Amino acid sequence: MESMGGLQRTHDCYSITEESLESEVILMGWVHKRRDHGGLIFVDLRDRKGITQVVFAPEVDEASHQKAHSLRSEYVIAVKGRVRRRPEGMENPKIKTGMVEVACNELRILNTSKTPPFPLDEEKEVSESVRLKYRYIDLRKFHMVENLTLRHRVCQAMREYLNRNDFLEIETPMLTRSTPEGARDYLVPSRVHPGRFYALPQSPQLFKQILMIAGMERYYQIVRCFRDEDLRADRQPEFTQLDMEMSFVTEEDIIELIEGLIAHIFKAALDTELSPPFPRLTYQEAMERFGTDRPDTRFGLELVDITDIAAGCGLKVFNTIAETGGVVKAINAKGMADLSRKDLDVLTEFAQSFGAKGLAWVKIKEDGSWQSPIAKFFKAGEQAAVMDKLQAVPGDILFFGADSRNTVYRVLGELRLELARRRGLLPEEGFNFVWVTDFPLLEFDEDENRFKALHHPFTAPNKEDLDFLETDPARVRSRAYDLVLNGIEIGGGSIRIHQESIQERVFKALNISDEETREKFGFLLEALTLGAPPHGGIAFGLDRLVMLMAGRDTIRDVIAFPKTQKAQCLMTNAPAGVSMAQLADLYLRPDWKREEKTPQH
Ligand code: AMO
Ligand code: AMP
Repeated sequence: MESMGGLQRTHDCYSITEESLESEVILMGWVHKRRDHGGLIFVDLRDRKGITQVVFAPEVDEASHQKAHSLRSEYVIAVKGRVRRRPEGMENPKIKTGMVEVACNELRILNTSKTPPFPLDEEKEVSESVRLKYRYIDLRKFHMVENLTLRHRVCQAMREYLNRNDFLEIETPMLTRSTPEGARDYLVPSRVHPGRFYALPQSPQLFKQILMIAGMERYYQIVRCFRDEDLRADRQPEFTQLDMEMSFVTEEDIIELIEGLIAHIFKAALDTELSPPFPRLTYQEAMERFGTDRPDTRFGLELVDITDIAAGCGLKVFNTIAETGGVVKAINAKGMADLSRKDLDVLTEFAQSFGAKGLAWVKIKEDGSWQSPIAKFFKAGEQAAVMDKLQAVPGDILFFGADSRNTVYRVLGELRLELARRRGLLPEEGFNFVWVTDFPLLEFDEDENRFKALHHPFTAPNKEDLDFLETDPARVRSRAYDLVLNGIEIGGGSIRIHQESIQERVFKALNISDEETREKFGFLLEALTLGAPPHGGIAFGLDRLVMLMAGRDTIRDVIAFPKTQKAQCLMTNAPAGVSMAQLADLYLRPDWKREEKTPQH
């Protein structure tokens, strides 16, 4: 009590309205703004909930009026006073407390503040590094409070729904061994076992499967995951998943339950009605039409295959590619024939940055003829066939990509998004969900010259394709599914392998030696022989989901203390150096010094 000067808060700064007129209130918060008007001093007092105007007038209380002269931005104060109507012309209808003010009769300064590194009362762009260094100041801004409040409500809604559906919330270890999800591990050296390391989990994948074998039947956890990978706007080295697993279920059961969960979250946290079931695309369809397995289906500009026409045209590059197993695809950018020469140069460079060798284009003129550097290579019949396939009309511009299948998908998939951004085709609001199903189980890694799991090695192969596991691995589809929202992958999961023999065959297809299998996954294989029920699950990226719900562009805005693109925490200066004694305790030697890999301090 003493630290609040004997006062006890009665209201927050959002709930003071005309209903409180004439009552005496005690508010506590931060000085948002101070204005001196002749004899009167006005303070916008801010707390987590809102802002209330406080007036210091000598005729109400001489002492507090005197003291109010010393108030500065971000001072922490307690104010006692009577609620009164603002004088006519002084109202602010934009805020809920805008019709009233508190006439202060007692002021306590609970703490002073140095001038903050950036002002909170202006919508000024502040560099992100300053925002992150002084994160506690940044978080005082209302839009940041709103983001974290939304995150809280989303978590609450998740728990409500899953608890109601008979799930158990169970924790799994943070100090564990490698859990393969395709990224690098964060390692923690053991002091007790020299030369041995824990890995922080990339996900609780193996533990949740083991929990099913343990008979828990329905598990969830809102859990931190760690992945040492290149960072982007929607990737952090530590991030949060809503992780789930269920026994005795099929894909359909999981998809239905998740659609109910998502609808509940949006209703509870945003008061938005969604209407599941959500559309579904197979992986193959998503790749062919959108060039990506996380398609943004809010606009057209779909990829169309014209390899057959290109094979016979007069353009050599197209012929060669068609003959050597590549593909030629095109996008019809409807009504965009007004793109200038310079625009086209920029778009070509854009395509090249994703590996394109060129970006052929065709503008459709008023009379339907082609204006294009490649027009002369297409006979009239071929031009007509291309136009027909792409439903091209005057005013459209067609873009062509010719290369290996994967390169064409990547280039045209990115070009499609870029054209949509340039032309404002992406709606500001709205939530577009798509399931992507029937992923391949494995993909060939050219660099490592071996097959890798597209999801993770525990994903069940599609029964119909099982026979190809040894003979034609690329052909095997998996029982995996991803949920995509506005072109961003927000969740992914699968039915798992629950039979030891199949798990062993998949490890073999992945070229994992018997020895490595036994050493890394022996416990799983053994558990699979001790009464493993059929099971499956999914995990959502909580940060990404909340980012999209909040309408933000980066997950850093919905994480209280995020890291930079270089995986640093600018507030605490992590990662930091450690003492030689600590290293010695862990049996580590600072060899990096010799290699000049000095960590940033
Ligand atoms: P996956 O690796 O697809 O699946 O991860 C699930 C979801 O987590 C989010 N996500 C990330 N969010 C922020 N930063 C990152 N670095 C990051 N990496 C992933 C994505 C993604 O969809 N164990 C499986 C799930 C399962 O099979 O049940 C897994 O972790 O939104
Ligand atoms: P060139 O014959 O190399 O001058 O190319 C003619 C046109 O085709 C130019 O507009 C190139 O940008 C384009 N082009 C060349 N290679 C490709 C390719 N692999 N895919 C798409 N367009 C290409």
